[in-house]
Amino acid sequence: MLPRHRSWGTGGILSTVAATAETPKTFYLETFGCQMNVHDSERVAGTLMAHGYTPVETMQEAGLILFNTCSIRDKAAQKVFDRLANFKALKKQGKTFGVLGCVAQQEGDAIFKRAPHVSLVAGSASYARLPELIAQLEAGEPRVTGLSEAPEAAFETEFTRRDHPYRAYVTIIEGCDKHCAYCVVPYTRGGERSRASASVLAEVASLVAMGYTEVQLLGQNVNSYRDPSPAQLNFAELLAAVGEVRGLKRVRYTTSHPRDFTPEIVRAMGANPVLCDHVHLPVQSGSDRVLERMRRGYSRDQYLKIIADIHACPRPLAITTDIIVGFPGETDADFEQTAEMMHAVRYSGAFIFKYSPRPHTEAGAWGAGADDIPDAVKTERLMILQRRQQELQLEDNQAWVGRTLEVMVEAYHPKLDQWAGRSSSNRVVNFSSPLPAPVAALPTLAILGQPAPAPPPLPRGGLGRVLEPGAYVQVHIDKAGPNSFVGQHLDGRGPQLGWAELPAYAHSGSGPHSPKPELR
Ligand code: 5AD
Ligand code: SF4
Repeated sequence: MLPRHRSWGTGGILSTVAATAETPKTFYLETFGCQMNVHDSERVAGTLMAHGYTPVETMQEAGLILFNTCSIRDKAAQKVFDRLANFKALKKQGKTFGVLGCVAQQEGDAIFKRAPHVSLVAGSASYARLPELIAQLEAGEPRVTGLSEAPEAAFETEFTRRDHPYRAYVTIIEGCDKHCAYCVVPYTRGGERSRASASVLAEVASLVAMGYTEVQLLGQNVNSYRDPSPAQLNFAELLAAVGEVRGLKRVRYTTSHPRDFTPEIVRAMGANPVLCDHVHLPVQSGSDRVLERMRRGYSRDQYLKIIADIHACPRPLAITTDIIVGFPGETDADFEQTAEMMHAVRYSGAFIFKYSPRPHTEAGAWGAGADDIPDAVKTERLMILQRRQQELQLEDNQAWVGRTLEVMVEAYHPKLDQWAGRSSSNRVVNFSSPLPAPVAALPTLAILGQPAPAPPPLPRGGLGRVLEPGAYVQVHIDKAGPNSFVGQHLDGRGPQLGWAELPAYAHSGSGPHSPKPELR
């Protein structure tokens, strides 16, 4: 679920087909929402670049301005319309605006009324048709839409521009059949469609051949993966097979639904450390009454049983979650049960949201009056949970001080002379290193929620080895905050303590939040 909002830069990647000098075709693409959307944007960018478009850093430079949108909560959808309104004037300069993603699918043609300067509206199942839709605009059509729900178009966009140089997203299942009472996803992304296991494995193998060492398997509900091919792999089998691809160092997956989460998945994770030490398992509420009304399909006890299975894994696995506060009818007693659940599980990270009624959903249809928890109460509940969660994370993270974690290096911050990366359990680790940074080729995008780095300084260590993003290093943890660690790169020095030496419950960390460089 990271990051919430990002935009495309040129990033030094060349278009496959050069734009002609007379008609420079440029695009600016801004992404809102989840990792599915981030990956969809990679596919959109790849498709456009293969058709002669060049990505640019700013809207001012772009001929085509695209917003890949999220409609999970009303606030997320509203943000897109606010953003569109801010840049209305650019239309007069001949720029074309397009709305993609979940708001596009949900609102359809109505977007043209709400934001008349928009010319293109397309949902995720229509991205392979984008060049054709844009060609229609270029041919003089004032407005075009791609709102197909045909599933077959969804995965097989021919080109993908990969945003991250070491971690690649791989979609294994699209859509959702669960119909939780609050959730708009089954309506914006359609029903569940799994991708053939051979196609997933071939993509992973080709990513490794390109130099990627970490893949993240994506789906709204990866656990309900059902291989449509004769191999008929279930999710645990697919996960195990991906973990066997030679050359891969890390495999992550998101998102899991407790209803389909099997002990077999934990066994697969326990058997192969390439499968990262992290499970994102949204609980939504700790109250049986609320879970029932949300149509989640499990009870508090059933959820806790899965947590016990996860805790029984021979390697400690970090668990993160999503929680909704203020669902219609949520009493103080229901809320207290959710708070207790946080203590019972000891999550290493939690995304906590205020309930927001969504169109088409069961709870949305209960009517405006049904959203009966006042916003002030929702805010208070959200803040109580956030505060408690931070306290728990700080407490659990302290247990890591003095230990060693393997970290994949992601960025260098020259001002702090500090590196940042993530552990297998998705904890953010900021660290110093005896090795110098390379002079060039550092990521120029702000990642890990920290400011974009300035040009790197000259290497401190003179000639010789340098530390580069993408490397895996052993980091000794010196300090722990609620959301991140600070440590030192051992570079061959010191003992390398492994997970086996950690106490129970020591496997908490920052979770997938946008981390802050809170400790130096
Ligand atoms: N209101 C608030 N939060 C929601 N989520 C999904 N739908 C809603 C809604 N209508 C949250 C859930 C989900 C996460 C991605 O967003 O917690 O797991
Ligand atoms: Fe992602 Fe769901 Fe938001 Fe769509 S609505 S962008 S699928 S989180």
